[in-house]
Amino acid sequence: MRMTFHAKDRQGVFDMETRTLGKNLKVSAIGLGCMGFSHAYGEPTEEADAIERLRDAVDIGYTFFDTAEIYGTFENPHGNEILVGNAFKDLGDEVVIATKFGIRFDTSSGKFPYPLIPDSKPERIRSSVDGSLKRLRRDHIDLYLQHRMDASIPPEEVAGAISDLIKEGKVIHWGVSEATEDYIRRANAVCPIAAIENRYSMMARWHENLFPILEELGIGFIAFSPIANGMLSGAYDKDYRFDPKSDYRSGMPQFSEGAFEKNRELQRLINDLARERDATPAQISMAWMLRKRPYIVPIPGSRKSVRIKENAGAADINLSGEDVLAIDIALSRMDMSAVFGGSEVLTTKPAGAK
Ligand SMILES: NC(=O)c1ccc[n+]([C@@H]2O[C@H](COP(=O)([O-])OP(=O)(O)OC[C@H]3O[C@@H](n4cnc5c(N)ncnc54)[C@H](OP(=O)(O)O)[C@@H]3O)[C@@H](O)[C@H]2O)c1
Repeated sequence: MRMTFHAKDRQGVFDMETRTLGKNLKVSAIGLGCMGFSHAYGEPTEEADAIERLRDAVDIGYTFFDTAEIYGTFENPHGNEILVGNAFKDLGDEVVIATKFGIRFDTSSGKFPYPLIPDSKPERIRSSVDGSLKRLRRDHIDLYLQHRMDASIPPEEVAGAISDLIKEGKVIHWGVSEATEDYIRRANAVCPIAAIENRYSMMARWHENLFPILEELGIGFIAFSPIANGMLSGAYDKDYRFDPKSDYRSGMPQFSEGAFEKNRELQRLINDLARERDATPAQISMAWMLRKRPYIVPIPGSRKSVRIKENAGAADINLSGEDVLAIDIALSRMDMSAVFGGSEVLTTKPAGAK
């Protein structure tokens, strides 16, 4: 990170390497996942504290922030967008904000985490965008992501609805989260996609088969849960307890009984590299993906300024192509536990089905 001074009233602001998603969406090489401040990782952070952390992140060099319409609690269902809107209300285009539409929680299921109900009907997208703009306190959304595919709405119809929003100036770029190749191709043919946002980490590599199509179509890859929900940082051990009522990690397989034993070799690989490179394990887990492809942008989530700063430092860790290859070979040979694959998504009827 290079130290520079920005015009505004802040001082001692750092610059981070930037990357380009799609044709021209410029973002910091590491983005900040904002979800945990309000959703899924225990009780929400008190707003004034969270705003301070988010402002610190800007000073550290982050220009890219990820939120979603549904990040919140039962009492405050859109709390995360409200928080992000309040934190950055005076920063305008200094920050790029990604938010998401297209799912709601099934709160009546009695299950935790709540299952997800996809809903990308064009009229629903319209009401979502207006709600998000209001909460984010902006007149446009920099990157609007379909949170999950909806089997009842063809990708062409979703892309058409987004295309209208782009013409109206409400949305600048768009993308899809947990996208598949067929969906990306069909959606992109109607309205070019800037980025997909899929789960990706040393424990979750199943989307690497999308790299060729992303390269063919010029689409970026935002990697969510890049530290495997914290697991790869080595900061947690088998005795760590998460609140089963408010923390999704309490039910994640990588934190379950026996998982730490199964992941010992993986953790050793990361820890050894960290020691060799004078880095931290979390930084190694993200430097690996940053060096893999120039269009990958990890978005680690943290509620602590010291970790937000540490994670930004991943952009400065030099791993060579040979290092990355050696890590890949080691990963593919080693045994490891299962990793959280996301909340259950309830199926909607495919378009045209009776
Ligand atoms: N598109 C989607 O469907 C989708 C799904 C999930 C997430 N996301 C986005 O992706 C972002 C990140 O994903 P994630 O939060 O699921 O997983 P993650 O970034 O892999 O892990 C976050 C967890 O790791 C901990 N952590 C972060 N940096 C650390 C470090 N340097 N050392 C030790 N622990 C560290 C955090 O705890 P502390 O807060 O205590 O530091 C937090 O509990 C989210 O915030 C959200 O914006 C998108």
